[in-house]
Amino acid sequence: MKSVFLPTDDRGLPVHAHGGHILRDNGFFYFIGENRTGRNKVSCYRSKDLKTWEFRGNLLTVDSKTQKHYFDTHLELDIPGQKASIGVGCNIERPKVIYNEKTGKYVMWMHWEMPNDYREARCAVAVCDTIDGEYTYLGSFNPLGYMSRDCTLFKDDDGTAYFISAANNNADMHIYRLTDDYLAIDSLVQILWPGQWREAPTVFKKDGIYYMLTSGCTGWAPNQSSYAFARSMDGEWSERFNLGDETTYRSQPTCVICPENDLGGKYYYLGDRWGGGGENYFKSEYVLLPLTIHEDGRLSLEWVDDNGL
Ligand code: DGJ
Repeated sequence: MKSVFLPTDDRGLPVHAHGGHILRDNGFFYFIGENRTGRNKVSCYRSKDLKTWEFRGNLLTVDSKTQKHYFDTHLELDIPGQKASIGVGCNIERPKVIYNEKTGKYVMWMHWEMPNDYREARCAVAVCDTIDGEYTYLGSFNPLGYMSRDCTLFKDDDGTAYFISAANNNADMHIYRLTDDYLAIDSLVQILWPGQWREAPTVFKKDGIYYMLTSGCTGWAPNQSSYAFARSMDGEWSERFNLGDETTYRSQPTCVICPENDLGGKYYYLGDRWGGGGENYFKSEYVLLPLTIHEDGRLSLEWVDDNGL
């Protein structure tokens, strides 16, 4: 398939799952991400081959049901004081979902903002019994009081989960360990690259090595991505190394799909080729490229017109 694409779903509508990720469940690939059509929401699609996508529903909308939780959160999902039917609602960006074996729940973490700026810099949490059901919103907050913008989740082989997010106005990248139920922050375990202004984190693991991809910080415009590696999430991280070309082939990282006896044994980089803000957002496409992991552990991302899938 072509490396740049914006597929249509089984309804003939564009697949809007921007800033999202592709995860596996029930023998399918699920694509979960931002959808700004109408009122803001998180949409979910599934596929067997990454080419044909079935719409599974809107997991969270700015009108979803809310539930009080044990941490100090803001429960408004929409703009406080605004009637539910007015406007597009608050911004929900970069939603990610992981499954908690102990509680049997799917847990979503995301970035929450008021519609017109990025000043609140909050993360938010939602939960559901099924991957593609209606999630219950548990609230938004500043993790341990820090600002939190671009974010991702990573679940380790032993079930320990981490929330990674840009803090300090995007200048620093934080890694937080989550509580056993994945619903709250347990502790801040890393402050990476202070003052280096990184966004769009995504983490994956191969052969005991943790890799984190990040982009630079230039709004909707693409820039040079980089990667770093570590032997544990809370251990020492390497310096950053460039990945792809100076615009990461006009994309910004959002996830890495790891092979499981499929994908021709290859790892795949998924990035957003943003159209921009406002109406241009809807022109946003996806970039899906093979990510090479060399024998010495280095990563490289080369441009190919067809990604081999
Ligand atoms: C870059 C971020 O990675 C996106 O998720 C989005 O917040 C844009 N900036 C907004 O300018």
